[in-house]
Amino acid sequence: MRIGVVGGGLMGSGIAEVCARADLDVTVVEVDPTSLDRARARVERSLERAVRSGKLSTEDRGVVSDRVAYSTRVEDLEGSDIAIEAIVENEHAKRDLFRKLDEILPDARFLASNTSSVPIMKLGAETTHPQRVIGLHFFNPAPVLPLVEVVRSIMTSEDTLRQAHTFVEERLGKKSIDSQDRAGFVVNALLVPYLLSAVRMYESGFASKEDIDHGMVLGCAHPMGPLALADLIGLDTLLAVSESLYEEFRDPTAVAPPVLNRMVEAGLLGRKSGRGFYEYES
Ligand code: NAI
Repeated sequence: MRIGVVGGGLMGSGIAEVCARADLDVTVVEVDPTSLDRARARVERSLERAVRSGKLSTEDRGVVSDRVAYSTRVEDLEGSDIAIEAIVENEHAKRDLFRKLDEILPDARFLASNTSSVPIMKLGAETTHPQRVIGLHFFNPAPVLPLVEVVRSIMTSEDTLRQAHTFVEERLGKKSIDSQDRAGFVVNALLVPYLLSAVRMYESGFASKEDIDHGMVLGCAHPMGPLALADLIGLDTLLAVSESLYEEFRDPTAVAPPVLNRMVEAGLLGRKSGRGFYEYES
């Protein structure tokens, strides 16, 4: 089975690795050679980590690595069985891409988006076959976290839904849950208002960022505090999800605190840019 992954950032590179480790042939598409090199380096670094932690043998690492091809041309996905879109969280860019994927892949089983906030219906509406467009929402880091939310739009067919669940559970070995096509799906609709509350608490000086994070790690047994988690997700992504949640539900708990807007405007996007609430080595 051939899988096309469009976007080789944080999520796309992880999804490509998950597919390759499940014995699938993958092609990752990026916008330019520099981004493509970064995508390749991300996949290789992650495989290296898997070898060091004993989850992958050195021999298998080579095999997995060889299963991933890289391209800057989306046309190279021609003939893929499944396409998974994981480009920037920008509705226009995603809609353009779905139009192209629809043309390039008339026979694909389904076209999936890893979007955190764009309604799947809007992506399906760009295509001639909205019944084969579905959301597959992986979690970061995709090679580690077992969950994938399967998001069905009002036009997605039963057959696509079934194939998507089978792909996630049987081919990728992950656990799937169903969500309606509503902003945030299940997990972010619960998580994002919590993360924004932590940002608000930090912004108001109620507590330091370290104490907020220690509080939730040590007091609630969360594996990571909310501000460290926001940095891991990416502050631009968090902002985009909060905006879509607010737009959909008009719930004040989904409004981004000003500091989050300022940080994103300043390019402080969290781990991926080297600085967010905390600083990271590149
Ligand atoms: P990212 O910013 O790390 O990566 C996005 C990549 O897409 C970049 O490398 C960019 O060069 C590439 N790109 C942009 N336009 C493109 C195009 N037209 N064709 C090919 N590549 C293109 O972003 P990240 O975090 O990987 O997010 C990707 C998607 O996954 C977003 O929709 C986001 O909402 C979603 N997501 C993010 C999660 C997270 O924790 N960061 C978790 C689950 C979903």
